[in-house]
Amino acid sequence: MDDQTPRPPSRRTVLRTGAGAAGAGLGIAATSGGTARAAAESAPARAPRETAVPKRRGATMAGVPFERRTTVRIALVGLGNRGAGMIGNFLALPWVRVVAVCDPVRTKAERASAAVVAAGQPAPALYTHGEDDYENLCTRTDIDFVYVATPWDTHFAIARTAMLNGKHVGVECPAAMELAELWELVDLSEQTRRHCMQLENCCYGRNEMRVLRMAHAGKFGELLHGAGAYNHDLRGLLFDPKYYEGPWRRLWHTRLRGDLYPNHGFGPVANYMDVNRGDRVVSISSFGTPALGLAEYRAAHMPAGDPSWKETYVESDRTISMVRTARGRLIRLEHDVSTPHPYSRINSLGGTRGVFEDYPARIYLEPDHKDDVWGDFSAYAAEFDHWLWKDHANPPGAHGGMDYIMVYRLMQCLQIGLPPDFDVYDAATWTAPVPLSHASIKADGAAQEIPDFTRGEWQRARSGVDSAKPA
Ligand SMILES: NC(=O)c1ccc[n+]([C@@H]2O[C@H](COP(=O)([O-])OP(=O)(O)OC[C@H]3O[C@@H](n4cnc5c(N)ncnc54)[C@H](O)[C@@H]3O)[C@@H](O)[C@H]2O)c1
Repeated sequence: MDDQTPRPPSRRTVLRTGAGAAGAGLGIAATSGGTARAAAESAPARAPRETAVPKRRGATMAGVPFERRTTVRIALVGLGNRGAGMIGNFLALPWVRVVAVCDPVRTKAERASAAVVAAGQPAPALYTHGEDDYENLCTRTDIDFVYVATPWDTHFAIARTAMLNGKHVGVECPAAMELAELWELVDLSEQTRRHCMQLENCCYGRNEMRVLRMAHAGKFGELLHGAGAYNHDLRGLLFDPKYYEGPWRRLWHTRLRGDLYPNHGFGPVANYMDVNRGDRVVSISSFGTPALGLAEYRAAHMPAGDPSWKETYVESDRTISMVRTARGRLIRLEHDVSTPHPYSRINSLGGTRGVFEDYPARIYLEPDHKDDVWGDFSAYAAEFDHWLWKDHANPPGAHGGMDYIMVYRLMQCLQIGLPPDFDVYDAATWTAPVPLSHASIKADGAAQEIPDFTRGEWQRARSGVDSAKPA
């Protein structure tokens, strides 16, 4: 498919967004309570809402706490690289029970089940009967939270179904692929009173959390600019038939031209700048290079006759976007998974008193540093490391421990009844560059409006990832 059309609706999207699917075929579980039931029954048919700010259909979810519970009962949907890698982080927490797991590939679900049993928990229920079996999982009445680690085009439908069935839901990045879907997630979260979160693990990186606390303590002065990226050479993995479950991720390079994966870079910088908590992002202008990297890699590595030879790649090898905030700050976003380079999320922040840049970490702040010589970022650890990193100095799990820190904190909020560190408004904001950067590149870099998904709540300061340790 060429880049003039965002993408065809998948079979699943068509099924899930038809008027009949809005509530009717999706039974509301007993745990969902009357509010969710009423909301689902009145759920509106989907309509394009790219330009107008839709009227709020429920009270805000900003700052809404989870219900308190002794045990947090979770389900995992999607047990590929990410889902299988994350299950250990949930199982490490004694107050969390894995009740159900779902993947159409039965061996993957069975492996996850074995991990649950090995951790001393009863075997979870398995949902392996095709791509729609998550719907049956979602109707269970013994699940508090659904974790979704499936291919991108399924995130919206699974999150939607989870909320309509009264479950809180956390989705891997990006939360959805279209602006209308992001609005629908916002509306549904408000209607059902269920949280829908983008589980952005990079917000919990040790460096990111230290910079966040330093920014909020005023160490950078007035904040001016930041940058984040997903610059990760994925060429080998994208063409490896054994890595992903099918070519789903590579195929996005035949459909969109913009930033396919903004969240890892955007989330942390948005937190530094209190986006949705005192500032908001208002527009994005994006530019993209030619799309050459994947075709060149294919020519060098893929045998004639490989199915990939039928594909035409249109996704820019590198996209560069400028995001403006209501307070006049600038955020640069980059995305590049198709050329050789060392991994970088850039992760920088600058203000009137200095700058931090990551990869490698270095800092320059007045009055601590002078003569254009970068300073030692680790010198700030004792004073500014987040309490989560002080309590968990050597966290287990992948990605340097940030996955575990995120899961620990989320499950803590669910157990003791705190608001989550981020919510559906953040999920929609951090994901909005996916459709909007594509639109901007097609329009020669013309600025695209980023909607105010909070509908004005952004002006209210409130806590987020920079949390206080619960008593
Ligand atoms: N936050 C991170 O650091 C991080 C890292 C890797 C991947 N991810 C994200 O995790 C998600 C999954 O990526 P992956 O690398 O694990 O891909 P993958 O292809 O390895 O796994 C996807 C899994 O989902 C299953 N699946 C597909 N459709 C399904 C459905 N309808 N119901 C249930 N299961 C279904 C597949 O069978 C497969 O096992 C993506 O959104 C990706 O961007 C995030």
